[in-house]
Amino acid sequence: MSLEERRRLVPAFPVLWTPRLRLRELTAADAPWYLAHFSHPEIVRGTGFPAQDGITGALEEMALYVTGLFERREGIRWGLVPTGTDTLVGTAGIFRWTDGPKPSAEIGYDLAPEWWGQGLMHEALGAITAYALGPLGLVRLEGWVFDGNDRSRRALERAGFRHTGLFPLHGEDQHGVPRDEHLYEMRPPLLPSAG
Ligand SMILES: CC(C)(COP(=O)(O)OP(=O)(O)OC[C@H]1O[C@@H](n2cnc3c(N)ncnc32)[C@H](O)[C@@H]1OP(=O)(O)O)[C@@H](O)C(=O)NCCC(=O)NCCS
Repeated sequence: MSLEERRRLVPAFPVLWTPRLRLRELTAADAPWYLAHFSHPEIVRGTGFPAQDGITGALEEMALYVTGLFERREGIRWGLVPTGTDTLVGTAGIFRWTDGPKPSAEIGYDLAPEWWGQGLMHEALGAITAYALGPLGLVRLEGWVFDGNDRSRRALERAGFRHTGLFPLHGEDQHGVPRDEHLYEMRPPLLPSAG
């Protein structure tokens, strides 16, 4: 699918809602929050992304993985905001959006630790998977989780992802050390066949 076709499919940033969250676009104005959030040791440990180097580094990373990601229509990363507030509490989205007859993408997510254990990411993952496998037309979503990140594994399982296997040394942590990773996948529900 060309960039033009992707732009026709997703002409503007798709704001999503869940019972307790607004999933909105992140902009350069969110860089200070982004820097603090992605420097938190629990977020660094779970994602394997090293903290960025100041605001300039945060803006560069956002251009790669957030704002630019959507401009290039290579994926969509939402900022998670509890309804009735302006407080960002995490991010979630899809990337590595592939073309062809079986379009797919990878899912990524992170929540500030003080918000863990309330089912907020569960709501966000529900909205994002429904959007990706529905209006966006993807036929497969995959998620990679470091072995030992049990909270993240439970989040994917609770969201309806299926465990596919453990891949030795597939990933790399924030220090560049190879780590075993679990692969999860989700496909659209099978439609009843006609006749
Ligand atoms: C992965 C991560 C987002 C999970 O956060 P979380 O708050 O545990 O996820 P959920 O929103 O699914 O919440 C589920 C928890 O809330 C509880 N909960 C409370 N109310 C709930 C509700 N209404 N609905 C669902 N769950 C609810 C569940 O029991 C569950 O707790 P448990 O796992 O101890 O049983 C978070 O740990 C994180 O950001 N980690 C660091 C970054 C990271 O690892 N990202 C993933 C990289 S692969």
